[in-house]
Amino acid sequence: MNQTIHQSPTLVGTVVLPGDKSVALRSALFAALGEGASQVVNYPTSADPQSMLSCLRQLGVEIEEEDGILYIEGVGLHGLKAPDAPIDCGNSGTAMRLLAGVLAGQPFESTLVGDASLSSRPMARIANPLREMGAEIAMTNGFAPLHIRGNPILQGITYRLPMASAQVKSCVLLAGLYAAGETTVIEPTRTRNHTEQMLGLDHVDIGTDRYLTIQQGQRIPAQTYSVPRDFSAAAFFLVAGTIAPQAIIDLPSVGLNPSRSALLDVLRLMGADIAIENERERGGELLGELTIRSSKLHGVRIDGDIIPNLIDEIPILAVAATCAEGRTEIREAEELRVKETDRIDAMVKNLRALGAEVEEFDDGLAINGGAPLKGATVPSYDDHRIAMAMGVAGLVAEGSTTITDADAANVTFPDFWEQLKRCAAQD
Ligand code: S3P
Repeated sequence: MNQTIHQSPTLVGTVVLPGDKSVALRSALFAALGEGASQVVNYPTSADPQSMLSCLRQLGVEIEEEDGILYIEGVGLHGLKAPDAPIDCGNSGTAMRLLAGVLAGQPFESTLVGDASLSSRPMARIANPLREMGAEIAMTNGFAPLHIRGNPILQGITYRLPMASAQVKSCVLLAGLYAAGETTVIEPTRTRNHTEQMLGLDHVDIGTDRYLTIQQGQRIPAQTYSVPRDFSAAAFFLVAGTIAPQAIIDLPSVGLNPSRSALLDVLRLMGADIAIENERERGGELLGELTIRSSKLHGVRIDGDIIPNLIDEIPILAVAATCAEGRTEIREAEELRVKETDRIDAMVKNLRALGAEVEEFDDGLAINGGAPLKGATVPSYDDHRIAMAMGVAGLVAEGSTTITDADAANVTFPDFWEQLKRCAAQD
């Protein structure tokens, strides 16, 4: 399905965002491994969270869904059942990598598969530590399908993350639930902290390294999980409300976990007008009400430790940069090349197609802002964040912009197009 967005100086409205993908997937998984009946409030209907549910059902977990609340009958750490077919993670790298950690410690064999995009994303990054712990993992050239011969007595290890990845960190920590003694992950650069926060793990910082440790058999109590509204979905409206010349957008109850919200700081540094009200905590996650108004932006350079904190927001930040005065350079972001698509390549090509002045680097991109954008037809590369970023670019590009395979947005934000068009009065 294609979507066409027309240039729109005005953007007004309140957008109720979907639940956070990272918290949702973890809530469902931890509830499944928990001891007894848990609930998950505000569980999203989007494709990635639904993929996690179908994986868990294949592993024998009973899940009911009613009015946006999940009722999950936890089976405990040792209650999963051997699946009778390959487990399909769809487009979700988080589902595949977190489940692999759990399956590595089971007394049965399993196979994890995914769609074409997920089958071309690197899995050696999890196979290496899991093998070190004693699991047998077979892949094809480092890609899924992932055949896992679980080992119920894994060995605890101390593992220094070779790349900044919350998925790899979480995979190793979850395998640690099944590993003799304790398992420690050393994180040289901070990534999103949902796993350690939700499992109540302590950390110790030594210099710039963070040590996270999990004990074998740590029990997960049954509980009510609450999924905040997704900051990474908010990002599209943070930028849309900033770059549309006459905009005011309200985003209620957005998750503001500090390990996820660096885009706010960067946009403010660029000159954006974003107000946060009623900051509060729910279920260990910070929430707030956001109001965004049109602003003039100027370019920035970002690199280093901040990158993992806004890695998913870089495609939409690149769109903001096209409207900023001066140069924006984003470096040390090579992880973007192994997301749902190569997001550096995709954004460089798509923004150039709209007439932006863009330079490509192995580890990022630079944009000389200010060149007026012109509508064109651009592909989504079957990547939700590329589809939505280009939709927002369409608001400021002269004429009309068509995004092909725009339903990729369903992976995290099923009513994105409806909401964007409503705010731009294009519905
Ligand atoms: C995620 C971690 C990030 C992020 C992804 C979700 C998670 O990936 O890009 O959208 O929920 O742990 P990496 O950990 O691979 O960087």
